[in-house]
Amino acid sequence: MQSVVSYPDRGPWGNNRYRGNCSGYLIKDLIEQFHIKNMSDYMVGGGTTEDVCRDMRIPGTFLDLNRGFDMMNMDIPDRPESIFWHSPYDRAVVYSGNMYDADEVDRKYGIDCRANDLSRCRDWDEFVKKMNYCMLKQFTALQPGGYMFSLVGDIKKNGQLYSMISDIVKPGKTINILIKLQHHCTSDSFTYSNNNFIPIVHEYVLISKKEKGFIIPISMTVRRTMDMRDSLNTTWRDTVHAVLEQYGRSMTLNEIYEELGPHKKAKANPHWKEKIRQTLRDGRYFKRVSEGTYQAA
Ligand SMILES: C[S@@+](CC[C@H](N)C(=O)[O-])C[C@H]1O[C@@H](n2cnc3c(N)ncnc32)[C@H](O)[C@@H]1O
Repeated sequence: MQSVVSYPDRGPWGNNRYRGNCSGYLIKDLIEQFHIKNMSDYMVGGGTTEDVCRDMRIPGTFLDLNRGFDMMNMDIPDRPESIFWHSPYDRAVVYSGNMYDADEVDRKYGIDCRANDLSRCRDWDEFVKKMNYCMLKQFTALQPGGYMFSLVGDIKKNGQLYSMISDIVKPGKTINILIKLQHHCTSDSFTYSNNNFIPIVHEYVLISKKEKGFIIPISMTVRRTMDMRDSLNTTWRDTVHAVLEQYGRSMTLNEIYEELGPHKKAKANPHWKEKIRQTLRDGRYFKRVSEGTYQAA
């Protein structure tokens, strides 16, 4: 195995009509590479992992919402040596009620499968919360020394990238992040009118290992904003420019002082007013409109 993998053929395993299914060759290669003796998949979808494991005589537990197992509400039923996890990619493919009859599953198992289906989240934030809950629930169920293989992808919506690999919580020791080339995607047949658009043709396999004990290192993405007016690391040129851009018009010196004066950058410099005046005199970036009034050049 190398860090880039490509399986144009998905092999004979699982239901090839189950949308978003993955190639069984990936699972086979992971089992061989890591000498896996036991593997479970609790979002087994169309059964790819189950079929590969049966052929390779690897025991495991194979569940899914479509089989009445709701990971958001139910416990992982065992302590597996390894887990293959292929979550929905937000709403890229909606499963309950689409890939299987949700009412029938609800009746049969007494659950409400649409409510906790990871492919039916309201927005990206809810999806990330649920995805990370599922990650930690599965990872903590692993035996010490166990491996978690998480197949994740990126989604592009309204010109913005929503990246599972950057937003997924990464518990334990990260062993590798593989790039898996994608084949036979629905989007392959699209033509894109926006020529800045770069189609996504890969996914990732995050490979994590669990050590023993109750202290688990985790790394996760936290979203914050920075206020340039409070930053000691940005230049006066960029900060004053940003104030003028924010208002989108020329401003008087007093207006600029009022905007910056109460903030950390100005408070850290006893000569902040002189600094602003000196900055505004740089004709490459600023233009004097009239006495004491400036705009971005
Ligand atoms: C990408 S598919 C898995 C495809 C599978 N690897 C295959 O090859 O067929 C994701 C699966 O997650 C399941 N799922 C979504 N939310 C779930 C939940 N809360 N509990 C258990 N399974 C869930 C969906 O029913 C779907 O089958």
